[in-house]
Amino acid sequence: MNFARACSNEHADLHWSFFRVHRGSRVSRKRQGESASRVAEDTPAYGAAPFRFIDLFCGIGGFRIAFEKAGAKCVFSSDYDKFSQQTYESNFGEKPFGDIHSVAVADIPQHDILCAGFPCQPFSLAGVSKKNSLGRKHGFDDVKQGNLFFALAEVIDFHRPAAFVLENVKNLKGHDQGRTFDIIHRTLTEALGYTVYHKIIDAKPLVPQHRERIFLVGFREWRHFEFPNFPSEGPKLASILERDPDPKYTLTDHLWNYLQRYAEKHRAAGNGFGFGLVTERDHARTLSARYHKDGSEILIAQRGKNPRRLTPRECARLMGYPDTFKITVSDTQAYRQFGNSVVVPVVQHVAKLVVQTLKMPKSSTYDLVLEEKHNAHLGQGPKEPSKMVTYTKPKRRRIT
Ligand SMILES: C[S@@+](CC[C@H](N)C(=O)[O-])C[C@H]1O[C@@H](n2cnc3c(N)ncnc32)[C@H](O)[C@@H]1O
Repeated sequence: MNFARACSNEHADLHWSFFRVHRGSRVSRKRQGESASRVAEDTPAYGAAPFRFIDLFCGIGGFRIAFEKAGAKCVFSSDYDKFSQQTYESNFGEKPFGDIHSVAVADIPQHDILCAGFPCQPFSLAGVSKKNSLGRKHGFDDVKQGNLFFALAEVIDFHRPAAFVLENVKNLKGHDQGRTFDIIHRTLTEALGYTVYHKIIDAKPLVPQHRERIFLVGFREWRHFEFPNFPSEGPKLASILERDPDPKYTLTDHLWNYLQRYAEKHRAAGNGFGFGLVTERDHARTLSARYHKDGSEILIAQRGKNPRRLTPRECARLMGYPDTFKITVSDTQAYRQFGNSVVVPVVQHVAKLVVQTLKMPKSSTYDLVLEEKHNAHLGQGPKEPSKMVTYTKPKRRRIT
């Protein structure tokens, strides 16, 4: 069966062809101006050695903190934004490689786990409506950003890591009536042969912020995997607020009046737009990369004063970054970087489970199922009925 033809999306053929045509095109191309000697030796990391991971679209390294905490070792990172590279280098002592398209796939070191919070603007609700209003393309039709998924699929196809963890906005699932997600899912399962689990996770139980993101976890060999479950109650903003923030974060009368008038205008028109005024007893709305513009989505009420926006350090805490994380860029860049980031403790929980799953002897779950089937056949019944699972080995399709 031809995968492209099997896809209902009218663009599927186009994108599938894109993957096939571009697949391998970067394999032999030498990275321009960058020495391959920066790349670690190619030794798989099973046994006592730590798992090796790569950090694609790394931003400021949210995935890196989480996977290092889970005991894994970063062997490659890439992000083309110079300010994100600056923050990353200040904190990890390494400057990430630039544009993913300029890196030859073969020059990316062998790794066990591929991590990628691939760019979300083509799929995010805010990104889509903005692009619609400007008459611009979104999703896979956004040629520059939408196709970055295929760039990472190419890396998976070439290196065949034992596992991957991908993160994106919740709207990825519903974008283009589910067709975008369908293509992504089928590329990972049918074309690349991975067993894929996905879940939308809200960070609210771990940080005082309502932030829903979709996670896709894939395994090259069949593995049973369950996402972490969090308690329903989470911390409040009081836990991340600075005691004595610089007065520059308090809104001017001009901006505060403007925001109130703007909200009133939309309320009168029956729209829900407006600022998000919160106290220390609340949790915040989702921090966006545009927070630097007016801070309207999260404003902290202050007694006897205009509300204030969050400080960059408070944004870092809202995303679960430790206070030891260095902020070496301007406020504008810092707001953008934290608004684009993953919530570190959420990834930390996922990372821990992925590492644990990979550490289980490769065949254990598979053998257990076979053994149970065998026993059932002999009339002995399964030894541990609670662990009985139906196993269908995914077929890896060859892409030619
Ligand atoms: C959603 S952010 C990822 C943030 C990251 N997970 C973190 O925790 O900070 C996506 C990142 O992809 C980067 N990016 C976009 N296009 C890229 C490309 N062609 N090559 C490399 N990086 C790219 C952006 O600069 C941005 O930092």
